[in-house]
Amino acid sequence: MKRVSLTQYLVEEQRLHNNIPASLRLLIEVVARACKTISHSVGKGALGDILGSADTENIQGEVQKKLDVISNEILLEANEWGGHLAAMASEEMESIHPIPNRYPMGEYMLLFDPLDGSSNIDVNVSIGTIFSVLKAPEGMTAPTEADFMQEGAKQVAAGYAVYGPQTMLVLTTGAGVNCFTLDREMGSWVLTQKNMQIPEETKEFAINMSNQRHWHPPVQRYVSEMLAGKTGPRGKDFNMRWIASMVADVHRILNRGGIFMYPADLRDPSQPGKLRLMYEANPMAFIVEQAGGAATDGRQRILDIPPTKLHQRVPVFLGSRSEVERVTSYHQE
Ligand code: AHG
Ligand code: MN
Ligand code: MN
Ligand code: MN
Repeated sequence: MKRVSLTQYLVEEQRLHNNIPASLRLLIEVVARACKTISHSVGKGALGDILGSADTENIQGEVQKKLDVISNEILLEANEWGGHLAAMASEEMESIHPIPNRYPMGEYMLLFDPLDGSSNIDVNVSIGTIFSVLKAPEGMTAPTEADFMQEGAKQVAAGYAVYGPQTMLVLTTGAGVNCFTLDREMGSWVLTQKNMQIPEETKEFAINMSNQRHWHPPVQRYVSEMLAGKTGPRGKDFNMRWIASMVADVHRILNRGGIFMYPADLRDPSQPGKLRLMYEANPMAFIVEQAGGAATDGRQRILDIPPTKLHQRVPVFLGSRSEVERVTSYHQE
């Protein structure tokens, strides 16, 4: 089999669809390189002194793991000097990170969840990195948080790396979804799945069931109908999976279908759900839609939500189209 590298894929994609300008290509390659470095650290585990807590808190009140902080620094350092970015924003930083003056300012803005699935780091379960790329507004001179407040539909690229038994990079630039596997010996990303499509038929759902008592009625109804199995309204048995790393759950769904849910619940109306719109829900929604699936907050398309703040949370329902449509319709009744 002829091997196609990430670089070759990006160059040919530009030739074919004219949708990846050179500076965006550089950006994607730099992010991919940073993910390679993170993957290497992840793989070292206890041998690399990367496990355990950093004993600090991020803006969302989560205790940071060492690897949350290390991955954030790797992404910042890798992306600062290339001249392709105007600013960055991250789960692990309270405010945006403009590119320092010593470097030229580029036309893109990068958002990331440097390490997704923090609770799985110390138990050797798959974790990942999620990223989203926006265009800086025309004529912007000094980037502010307001410049980031663009709907997910405006993303020009999004992707994630999953650090599992294999390290993979899943990428969209708005013309389908492709998956690259890291060849660890060669240090290169090799195209291994072209134009991924989420299977429509599914018998699998993902939700943190321990929160059931807090759910709103539409989610109660949707899940209980699945749990009722063959003799229930759905007429089939369902299986459940919950990895507690969004990247790993989404990666499974891209490959074999299913629905992922992190709903809002009755606990705290000021915190609609757990996941963050700008660097978790939006990039994943872009990827899922590009793979033929759907993503909503229970009422509307995630990609149409106008953001109001950087760390805003949002309920998430994504995956096989018909399942997402069903649970969304229950919210609208
Ligand atoms: P992060 O580690 O980046 O803070 O994100 C964790 C998220 C997501 O990856 C996962 O789906 C969810 O938290 C798991 O939440 P529970 O611990 O409530 O299951
Ligand atoms: Mn976190
Ligand atoms: Mn996350
Ligand atoms: Mn994270």
